[in-house]
Amino acid sequence: MTKPIPIAVLVGGSGSNLQAIIDAIESGKLNAEIKVVLSHNPEAYALKRCEKHKLQAVIHNHKSYSNRDEFEKAVLQTIIESGVELICLAGFMRLLSPKFVARFSNKIVNIHPALLPSFPGLHAQKQAFEYGVKVSGCTVHFVNEYLDAGPIICQAIVPVKENDTEETLAAKILEQEHKIYSEAIQLIAEGRVKISGRKVLIK
Ligand code: GAR
Repeated sequence: MTKPIPIAVLVGGSGSNLQAIIDAIESGKLNAEIKVVLSHNPEAYALKRCEKHKLQAVIHNHKSYSNRDEFEKAVLQTIIESGVELICLAGFMRLLSPKFVARFSNKIVNIHPALLPSFPGLHAQKQAFEYGVKVSGCTVHFVNEYLDAGPIICQAIVPVKENDTEETLAAKILEQEHKIYSEAIQLIAEGRVKISGRKVLIK
C-alpha cells in the first residue's frame, strides 16, 4: 500500500465528520493519516473524539486572538509543523482569508450541507428546507477565496419528503456527508483528482 496522505482536520463542533474520517481510515477504506485535529472551539465535542482515538488535538480559540490575522498565524504554524498535504475542513466555522487560502492552493477541502452553489453559508439545511426545494444534499469542494465557492469534487443528493422537518433533513444530509467526505479524500490520496478551471476531473 502507498504511504497514507497526511491530513489535518479542522473542526469546531460535534466532529461527526471527523469520526467518519477516523472510521474510514480504521476500516481501510481511506488511506490517510490524521496528523493533527485543530479546533477553533475549546468546547467542541470533536476534541473528545480525539482523546478517544489518541489523535493530536490543538485548540486555537479564535476569541483569544485580537484579529483574524493573529488567529490565522497560529493556525498556519500548527499546519506547517504537522507537515500535512491536505487540510480538511469539517465543521470549522471560521472564514479563511484569501492569503491563507492562496498559501495552500488546492490543498484545502470542505464539506458543505447543501448542493452548492445553492445555499452557501450558515444553516444551509434550514435555508434549503425553508426554500422548499425537493432535493438537497451535500458537497465536497476545494476551498477558494470565496465562501463555499471552490471547484466541486463530489456531491450526494437527498430527496426532501413532505413529512421531513428541518431536523430529519439535516440528519439525512449528515449521513451522506459521512460517506462522501472520505470518498473524496481517498480520490485525492490516490492522485486521481485534477482541477481544470472550475471543473474537477476524476481519473
Ligand atoms: C456539517 O454538517 C458540515 O457540513 C457543516 O457543519 C457540520 C459539522 O458537523 N459545515 C458547514 O456548514 C460549513 N459551511 P460535524 O462537526 O458533526 O462534522
